[in-house]
Amino acid sequence: MIVEKEYTEGRTSFLSADLDHYSVSQKQPTTDLPVFYNPIMRLNRDLSVLFLRTYLQDRPVELMCEPLAGSGVRTLRYLNECPGQFKALMFDVNPIAVEMAQKNIERHRFADRAQVKKGDAKVLLLTESRNQRFDFVDVDPFGSPAPYLNAAIQSLKPREGLLALTATDMPVLCGVYPNVALRKYGGLSIRAPFVHELAVRLLMGSAYSVAGMNDSSIVPLAVLSTNHYIRVWLRVEGSRSEGNLQADRMGLIRYCKTCMRVEIVPVKKWAQAAGFSHETDGCGGKPAVAGPLWTGNLFDSSMLHEAQKILSSDDDLAFDKRVSKLLALMREEVRLTGIPYIDLHEVCDLHNLTPPKTDTVIQTLKECGHATSRTHFRPTAIRTEASVSDLVRAITDLAGVK
Ligand SMILES: C[S@@+](CC[C@H](N)C(=O)[O-])C[C@H]1O[C@@H](n2cnc3c(N)ncnc32)[C@H](O)[C@@H]1O
Ligand SMILES: [Zn+2]
Repeated sequence: MIVEKEYTEGRTSFLSADLDHYSVSQKQPTTDLPVFYNPIMRLNRDLSVLFLRTYLQDRPVELMCEPLAGSGVRTLRYLNECPGQFKALMFDVNPIAVEMAQKNIERHRFADRAQVKKGDAKVLLLTESRNQRFDFVDVDPFGSPAPYLNAAIQSLKPREGLLALTATDMPVLCGVYPNVALRKYGGLSIRAPFVHELAVRLLMGSAYSVAGMNDSSIVPLAVLSTNHYIRVWLRVEGSRSEGNLQADRMGLIRYCKTCMRVEIVPVKKWAQAAGFSHETDGCGGKPAVAGPLWTGNLFDSSMLHEAQKILSSDDDLAFDKRVSKLLALMREEVRLTGIPYIDLHEVCDLHNLTPPKTDTVIQTLKECGHATSRTHFRPTAIRTEASVSDLVRAITDLAGVK
């Protein structure tokens, strides 16, 4: 018998292992909990509920699958907080998690809508989708979703399906282990001030490649970046021709930390990729190269717009307060995701300047005619069409030298 506790997230209560009992000396839940549940991921689940609700407005979901379910909280929340009578399959390799998820299904009287099975996610994704493929697969593993990507994509409906992926292996994706990133995601990671965006793009690039291997293309719907994990939502469509066209969205991102210049080089042009236009003549920096990775859009603006409408019209959502702030930031950055974000504190450190308020810098740049936005990736970062030199000039005018 394990020590259980009832938790509530959004509008859903559920049982899991008592975190106070099992992680007394730990700050964060660890993987050796009898059943894994991490309250920090609530924001991830809140947004996931919101985005599934948005997706359901246009596209039917009959059957979804959460192949790494833990206590089942995520699927329970989808069933309980999203409209419709869609069904859900959950898997977990841990028998105690399966027992807990089963108990949670029964407590919610979801026995006719949800089932949980014990076994390896990769195997079950393929075998359990043989009779009916899934409309939505949510991959939320420990660490990297890469090992599950192929089975998840193959288990989706061949014409179209929704795929959500969480990755928590931040050191790999953020440049501490570039070779591991190349091995797992097919692209090199680097250390850079906009490293979380590179992480998202590496994961998106990997989804593009695996979808492509399966004669499909991807449509990025939204991404979420926090300190502990990244998350992407995308539609997988069974279109070879679109997948071919999307080859143009795969590229390298080169970054010179000496002058902070960032360049995107499409994979198809990398034969001519030697010249890098540094920000200043004679910069002398050696650009680091990330990728190949996804250099296309990260959000679907109409989906974000619809999500906003749901958020504004439903007073009962009980989401984390950060959800509406994040959504507002995503809606702001959506038009400029073709330009990697730049962190104002990093620019100021490099040029010995005092960082002004982010909003002040944005307004100044806009007044000079440069399209500029905030980004949900970081409160101190912006996306701007202005060059680094323009930005430095604007900050110098605003703040003066330290
Ligand atoms: C991060 S937890 C899932 C948390 C859950 N999705 C949530 O939102 O609370 C990862 C889960 O995957 C399970 N797991 C690990 N390897 C697995 C495998 N190969 N197949 C199925 N489940 C696996 C673990 O037992 C654990 O419950
Ligand atoms: Zn340079």
